[in-house]
Amino acid sequence: MFSLFRPKTAGFDQIGIRTDWHCHLLPRVDDGVQDLGRTVRILDDMRRAGYHTIVHTPHFNPELFPANTEDSMRDAFERYRENAPSTLELKLAGEYMVYDGFEKRDMSQLLQIEPGKVLIEMSYLYPSATMEQAIFSILMAGLTPVIAHPERYLYYADTLDRFDRLHELGAQFQLNLLSLQGVYGPKSVQILEYILDKGWYSYLGTDTHSVHHFRGIVQNPFKAKYLPQLQAIAR
Ligand SMILES: [Fe+2]
Repeated sequence: MFSLFRPKTAGFDQIGIRTDWHCHLLPRVDDGVQDLGRTVRILDDMRRAGYHTIVHTPHFNPELFPANTEDSMRDAFERYRENAPSTLELKLAGEYMVYDGFEKRDMSQLLQIEPGKVLIEMSYLYPSATMEQAIFSILMAGLTPVIAHPERYLYYADTLDRFDRLHELGAQFQLNLLSLQGVYGPKSVQILEYILDKGWYSYLGTDTHSVHHFRGIVQNPFKAKYLPQLQAIAR
């Protein structure tokens, strides 16, 4: 009988998140927020939602954003920090596209989301051919690869054991909070529930690109059955 009265949905404020491990708030460097005023509004929304640390992860993708290097992002971030006074702790890392040849980079140069952890991604349209080599290279450098939003790689929905393989190789996974609401479709939900049930997500990120994007995360509910796992990951 009790299950009849148990709430079927839950909300962002029940998770207990304090750190955003993935967002595009550094203005005008990628497809994220394009002006400082909007970024400041989002930071304010984040503070009110309970965040205390924001890890900025601009795209590193030579094809789409060739100007983004570790040095140029450090410079942009320093200027940004001087102009975006905030009570939040603001940090800089990166979201690295795994392209052919990425595995040959000096992994020690990559910007890390926390000590030893490197956020990497693939295209939403097709898998990276050199993903496993990239994972090996990062591990060989003494670092751990964290795969961004695996639930958005819909081409793996019919071969979920690909995630077993990536996990066995030593990769960790970062969940996009908007995915919880099912906005990326049933295949995304299938992947999300698979990885969540396995307990393989280690990081929660907003992947915020706009004011609207973050408000959607805070305002819309998701299935209550996700909550215990999310609470276990949240920090
Ligand atoms: Fe991202």
